[in-house]
Amino acid sequence: MGGVVVRRGGAQDVRFLRDMLHHAYYWKERRPDAGGPGPVQLYVKAWGRKGDTAVIAVVDGFPVGAAWYRLFRAGAPGYGFVDEHTPELAIAVVPSARGKGVGSALLASLLERARADGFAGISLSVDRLNEGAITLYRQHGFEPVEERGDSLTMLARLA
Ligand SMILES: CC(C)(COP(=O)(O)OP(=O)(O)OC[C@H]1O[C@@H](n2cnc3c(N)ncnc32)[C@H](O)[C@@H]1OP(=O)(O)O)[C@@H](O)C(=O)NCCC(=O)NCCS
Repeated sequence: MGGVVVRRGGAQDVRFLRDMLHHAYYWKERRPDAGGPGPVQLYVKAWGRKGDTAVIAVVDGFPVGAAWYRLFRAGAPGYGFVDEHTPELAIAVVPSARGKGVGSALLASLLERARADGFAGISLSVDRLNEGAITLYRQHGFEPVEERGDSLTMLARLA
């Protein structure tokens, strides 16, 4: 896809991150009874905590995708929690821009930032049936570490 720019996200992007979250975790929202620590809003709520980091893909001035990570405490973990020093990643691309390399560009950019910020690893939770996303994650060095119900926790080691 031509003309994709990946830029750092900030406080002004929180609304977009929230929109993207519905794409990323629709499969959890569909099943609110599936257990886990709570609503997916935990990935954007009170954005700006220490460690919170986002990148936004922009085409012709419009955001078309986002990838971001945040740290969680053991007492209030995300779905792909590994430990308190390993941020959890979320990613989504708007449906009209998928399959054109945007997700891959976002992931590469975010992993580079996590490495530069000194994190030894980054984790995520993905539906075991979401083969497209799992392929993308594997291409960027993520490996499965745990199965939790319908979802898979994956970890990329950065150090
Ligand atoms: C997963 C997602 C972020 C991928 O973004 P994208 O811009 O479409 O991905 P890319 O075009 O960069 O694809 C990169 C690679 O991922 C794999 N991939 C991505 N989507 C795929 C699909 N639907 N089927 C098979 N492979 C897929 C391919 O290997 C692809 O490489 P290739 O094009 O050289 O074959 C996007 O499809 C999305 O937002 N999905 C809905 C939200 C979601 O599932 N988020 C993850 C929740 S954990």
